[in-house]
Amino acid sequence: MEATAVAHPNIALVKYWGKRDQKLNLPAAGSLSVTLAGLSTTTQVQFDEHLTEDRVTLDGEPLETGRSRRRVVDFLDLVRHAAGFRYKAHVETKNDFPTAAGLASSASGFAALAVAAASAAGLDWSRRRLSVLARRGSGSAARSLFGGYVEMKPGTRSDGSDAHAIAIATEDHWDLRCLIALTARGKKETGSTRGMLHTQESSPLFESWRQTVPGDIEEARHCIDDRNFEGLGSIAERSCLRMHATAIGADPGILYWNAATVALIHRIRRARADGLNCFFTIDAGPHVKAFCLPEQATDLRSLLTSVDGVENIISARPGGGAHCTPGPTGQ
Ligand code: DP6
Repeated sequence: MEATAVAHPNIALVKYWGKRDQKLNLPAAGSLSVTLAGLSTTTQVQFDEHLTEDRVTLDGEPLETGRSRRRVVDFLDLVRHAAGFRYKAHVETKNDFPTAAGLASSASGFAALAVAAASAAGLDWSRRRLSVLARRGSGSAARSLFGGYVEMKPGTRSDGSDAHAIAIATEDHWDLRCLIALTARGKKETGSTRGMLHTQESSPLFESWRQTVPGDIEEARHCIDDRNFEGLGSIAERSCLRMHATAIGADPGILYWNAATVALIHRIRRARADGLNCFFTIDAGPHVKAFCLPEQATDLRSLLTSVDGVENIISARPGGGAHCTPGPTGQ
């Protein structure tokens, strides 16, 4: 009744933004991402027949009330329902990177929780089925079940059973570097769930955005197959800018960027014009993720560091999918 799992966050190169069903958390379109080694979430789950309520801790702090706790408890309910028992659980989660700062901690968080909770509950599920489960916690979490380059299928079924991720290339297929330039401390103002729902409800740009996604995924897949860095970069930048354009066009508009975010966009584009192979992407927060080839990572890092407002840089590379690991007690 106990298991521990590790999962890495992922960064979308073709963004997920919008839902076709809120209850089942079904995405409005597909997406495509890279799972990142170098950052991880470790989650331990223990179902305990003597507990009267779930005990959840995040980075050592008990989650006693609030939306984060609700999301975890609702998720555990799905696992309990599938396993046919009602035992409450001890859940202990640790991130080795800032939580809820636009670094996709919900992706690695729910991927690790899905693997640990399913294993602790004795559910011997395929990775696809675990991806469907992780999606209920967070859409991007479905992708962290897989390593390397990953595509999220939006699915067409109303029960969501075909809305899961698939692996399109392993982490060894293409070694890229992702440098995450942190431009602010603390939690973001508008979380991605609220941001995308508000966009969908009030932005006239949303529907045209949605229609661009399948074509971007198709092209990005080819670029990954061919290791075409320039091609992938232009798709990733346009997907990111269009996603943010829909949010900016909501009513009231949502602007996730700060001055340093904008300075970084310009800096990366100028570096590219000067011959450094790099591109950026930005999620629902002010940080900028810059991609380059391994041999140019040192140059890119010093260039990002020189931008005013950059507080720290985290380096990551393609990594593996979520998996069980021996827990602290060796189990
Ligand atoms: C901008 O997966 O956090 O990072 O499904 O509501 O939990 P929920 O949303 P979430 O959204 C991620 C949005 C994004 C783009 C992406 O990762 O594809």
